[in-house]
Amino acid sequence: MLKGKHIILGITGGIAAYKSVTLLRLLVKAGAEVQVVITPSGKEFITPVTLSALSGKPVVSEFFTANTGEWHSHVDLGLWADAMVIAPATASTIGKMANGIADNMLVTTYLSAKAPVFVAPAMDLDMMAHPSTLRNIEALRSYGNHIIEPAAGELASKLVGKGRMEEPERIAEILSEFFASRESLKGKKILITAGPTHEKIDPVRFIGNYSSGKMGYALAEEAAARGADVALVSGPVDVKAINPRIRVIEVESALEMLDACLAEFPAADAAIMCAAVADYRPAERADSKIKREGCSDVELRLVANPDIAATLGKAKRPDQKIAGFALETDNEAANARSKLERKNLDMIVLNSLRDAGAGFRTDTNKVTIISRSGSVREFPLKPKSEVAADILDSLFSPE
Ligand code: PMT
Repeated sequence: MLKGKHIILGITGGIAAYKSVTLLRLLVKAGAEVQVVITPSGKEFITPVTLSALSGKPVVSEFFTANTGEWHSHVDLGLWADAMVIAPATASTIGKMANGIADNMLVTTYLSAKAPVFVAPAMDLDMMAHPSTLRNIEALRSYGNHIIEPAAGELASKLVGKGRMEEPERIAEILSEFFASRESLKGKKILITAGPTHEKIDPVRFIGNYSSGKMGYALAEEAAARGADVALVSGPVDVKAINPRIRVIEVESALEMLDACLAEFPAADAAIMCAAVADYRPAERADSKIKREGCSDVELRLVANPDIAATLGKAKRPDQKIAGFALETDNEAANARSKLERKNLDMIVLNSLRDAGAGFRTDTNKVTIISRSGSVREFPLKPKSEVAADILDSLFSPE
């Protein structure tokens, strides 16, 4: 999977820099084109001569070549790369990346990179456990970077604990698996719903809910990154889709969402129903603003909206799959299972408002995935981008 891939290998100043040589050799051997970018302190641990001999390219470290004045464009490098891997990543570089401190070529390249970034921390156990390091790593994760967790073992300090850079063989494997997953949904068409629906009361008011669209858009980005063509039927949200393979169909109400889904579903291989659809809408919609003067109470009569997931569930062909969500506050598993059956879904993703960091508006979610065959997989709290990956893995490659 690495053949022909453009990879930036970022090396920072840590003892584990010697392992980067092996990583470079493995990547080159697998057919990747590797551009090494090294920080000034990285050069104190490993020489650019070794790295350029192995990569077949001059190593980039400074913004300019001193004797010729030639400028090294971090922007061009960032656009060239299919992936960037920073191994080892010291606490200092992680801190700079997390906070946008662009005082060297490696961090400026990172900030310009459009490709996925993998970060393999390596440091002493106390530095690794420090709240500032942990916070910076979490920040990088929340920006969508992939953290290659360090292993526990004997460290350069002779102390034993977490902080050893992951072995080069495993890092190369992680990159290879990543590129394999990027192709896995090529040719598939996926319908995804996201966000809330707004049910109008009058021209200035509506019934809505707290859905931000983050979970649905994360699913759309992950599916598109894996090669799928995505039709994203979205209620009113502030999130924007990035991947050009995502076609956004903006809707406002549940009835509009239903129409859009009915139009898209016949061509879809799968549908993922992540929207928080309002179950009810006002029976009447006032044409002009309901005035406060003269009416102390207003009564709203609500009528049930159609169940979009259940409607698609009825229309589903044997070659199509549907994943639904269940947002629960109590009796979670039983309610989720009953929705799975009632709506004729293949899989349901349960998130509970009782779990801190899960559900509406957060950047993270904690889900349990229940399949029609009865398998139940509980996942820890993760960024929504990673939850999206788990959902797609479960829907398309069930164990
Ligand atoms: O958007 P975020 O802020 O990131 O929050 C994400 C989320 C909490 C909205 C998301 O993770 C989630 O749980 N979405 C489903 C919310 C919901 O409406 O759950 P439900 O249990 O009420 O509905 C069950 C399933 O039926 C869902 O797949 C829903 O899309 C679907 N449904 C519900 C009602 C309806 N009239 N039509 C439907 O299709």
